[in-house]
Amino acid sequence: MARLAGKLALITGTGGGQGREAALRFAREGATVVGCDVDAQGHQATRELLRAEGFELHGLAPVDLGNPEQARQWVEVAVAAHGRIDILYNNASAARFGLVGEFSIEDWHYTIRNELDLIFFTTKYAWPHLAKSRGVVINIASTAAWGGSRVAGISAHSAAKGGVVSFTRQLAIEGAPLGIRAVSISPGFVITPGTAAFVEDPKIRAALLDGVPMDRPGQPEEVVALALFVASSEASFMTGSDLVIDGGLLAH
Ligand SMILES: NC(=O)c1ccc[n+]([C@@H]2O[C@H](COP(=O)([O-])OP(=O)(O)OC[C@H]3O[C@@H](n4cnc5c(N)ncnc54)[C@H](O)[C@@H]3O)[C@@H](O)[C@H]2O)c1
Repeated sequence: MARLAGKLALITGTGGGQGREAALRFAREGATVVGCDVDAQGHQATRELLRAEGFELHGLAPVDLGNPEQARQWVEVAVAAHGRIDILYNNASAARFGLVGEFSIEDWHYTIRNELDLIFFTTKYAWPHLAKSRGVVINIASTAAWGGSRVAGISAHSAAKGGVVSFTRQLAIEGAPLGIRAVSISPGFVITPGTAAFVEDPKIRAALLDGVPMDRPGQPEEVVALALFVASSEASFMTGSDLVIDGGLLAH
């Protein structure tokens, strides 16, 4: 049973990791998927994976969503080609890490731009189209929104992801009269091609999984399964929530 049949899904960060998995899963569930990424090669690789299964990944790359004009164009080109937006899945992000006393102003601005600003830009431009279709916004936050880290300097990342959760709540309030739902998802540590190398080192693995009762990283498909539920009509009464998926990290 296709759970997203007839839906037009905009997914950001389709060049790898969770965005690639989301493009594949949403297409298998019947959605027309429009992606983008600053990484053109990664986006093209995802397109080939979809084509191998008989699907198409629409959209552009490279697109730098931290640039408002590029974000606007990506949304407008999608609407011109497909006529509607039902799902906006704000997944893309890039962060820099460092202890707060040593963290540069440039790295702070880089992180806020690429984790928070870009979500505002895509949402702002998609908003009238989401209102027409009574659509849904899914924003990927992080457990970093809810707790600090003993192993990494995540001040900018935490601030940005906390902002994603708060931004989502306001979207829910402004969206409800228009029929738009907005939900954030806060994953704990998730293994992706970008993070796979870290967990091979037992010391780094132990640090990354410090405090995770299930003692393993999440898989991209586990986060995407949750996003699929949120995107589907089964989640029709859900808005403004943050859904934590973290192997139990925040349980203590
Ligand atoms: N991997 C984890 O452990 C983890 C944990 C919690 C939350 N998250 C969140 O999950 C989401 C997906 O991350 P992932 O794990 O798949 O990592 P990833 O780095 O593999 O994917 C992020 C994608 O976003 C793209 N991107 C970054 N900045 C962009 C920009 N300005 N414009 C367009 N594209 C841009 C990157 O090129 C990349 O392909 C992110 O929001 C991330 O913060 C990840």
